[in-house]
Amino acid sequence: MKKRENWTSNVGFILAAAGSAIGLGNIWRFPYVTGTNGGAAFLLIFLAAIIFIGFPVIVAEISLGRNTAKNPVGAFKKIAPDTPWWVVGGLGVFTGFLILSYYSVVAGWSMSYIFKAINGFTPGTDFATLFGSHISGFGVPLFWHAAFMLITVLVIRAGVVGGIQKVAKTLMPVLFLILITLVIRAVTLPGAGEGLSFYLKPDFSKISIQTFTDAIAQAFFTLSLGMGAMITYGSYLSKDDNISDNAVYIIGFDTLIAVLAGLAIFPAVFALGFSPSAGPGLVFITLPGVLAEMPLGSFFGFLFFLLLSISALTSAISLLEVVVSYVVDEKGWERKKAAQIIGFIIFIVGIPPILGYSSLSGFSFLGMDVLDTYDWFANNIFLPLGGLLTSIFAAYVWKAKNMMKEANSAPGKITLGKGYEFLLKYIAPAGILIIMAFNIWTTFVG
Ligand code: PFF
Repeated sequence: MKKRENWTSNVGFILAAAGSAIGLGNIWRFPYVTGTNGGAAFLLIFLAAIIFIGFPVIVAEISLGRNTAKNPVGAFKKIAPDTPWWVVGGLGVFTGFLILSYYSVVAGWSMSYIFKAINGFTPGTDFATLFGSHISGFGVPLFWHAAFMLITVLVIRAGVVGGIQKVAKTLMPVLFLILITLVIRAVTLPGAGEGLSFYLKPDFSKISIQTFTDAIAQAFFTLSLGMGAMITYGSYLSKDDNISDNAVYIIGFDTLIAVLAGLAIFPAVFALGFSPSAGPGLVFITLPGVLAEMPLGSFFGFLFFLLLSISALTSAISLLEVVVSYVVDEKGWERKKAAQIIGFIIFIVGIPPILGYSSLSGFSFLGMDVLDTYDWFANNIFLPLGGLLTSIFAAYVWKAKNMMKEANSAPGKITLGKGYEFLLKYIAPAGILIIMAFNIWTTFVG
């Protein structure tokens, strides 16, 4: 059997894991959720969610991966053989599969907008109509979805070090430089202040239970938790690296990029007299409109959609790697073949979300189209459920003390103790359970 690959350095792991964490969730979701949920007040709650729930879960996942050197299914099996706990890993593999299928469709929109920007964003264009006709086509979105999946497959085929780590090491610094350029451009526009105030001015009157559940859901998605991505990446981590220190870096980079993304978007939106909109509308409709009015706007648009596509690629890689590592470890498939076949199946599963804007537009689940339905199940059910069961598993089946021994095995700045144990055993599971119950309740009952 081939020896399992390891990241060649600690930095390689941090960049790959940060690449997984930093994605569409940071660049289009975080800024909007923050702006409409009370700005800095939301940011505080989000930070609390990250520290009290995100941190314990990410450390548990990385430790589980490193201890077992296995994919998510194999990791649970190794620690609790002959029990049904491996199903939690299986749920993770399934969730990775599901998320990647629509994530790639959106990433495909982003790639096609790189070219729209190169051709120039013309003032006076009706960008809402342009976006509507773009996504309601079939051939064009399908082409970009295929192109994005193809690139993702090529990276995974090339292996952990030659593919994932190399791409992360090359693209993460590029991503950071582009983002800084965009922030500087945005905050120096005359009238940028209004956008800054929309984004960050604390407004505690906007805080409700919903704010807390939004913050926890965002923490899960943005840190790639609850589906085994960090178990998988942790499984390639050397025994000499300190897990808690690494987790702090990953969380720190992820949060920094999310906050910066808002600083690149809102000052520009307000400076040019636009008002912000939600999700895809913000980046694919409002922003091109803003850019069309700005000097060198098409150039900055090119940079923005390149940034968005890069962030999506390094996340997509981790989603595919979860599924591929499973069939490689458990089913004995060869990596290249696994990447191609799984990538192709995910491409097919991504077709209904595309058709949801045309021939399947009659589909509606609680008023959502196909893509939003996939996203709803992933975000509101599968990721929190995966995170909940993983934290219970680490705390009570594997046992917190064994998990912490793994995390503490290499010297570092942080040594986990009683405080961490309390978070893992009580706070994280309870917090997750509350948001799940609340989300299901508000969707189906209230
Ligand atoms: N963290 C990614 C984002 O913020 O866009 C999304 C994601 C990637 C979720 C990988 C889960 C995952 F395993």
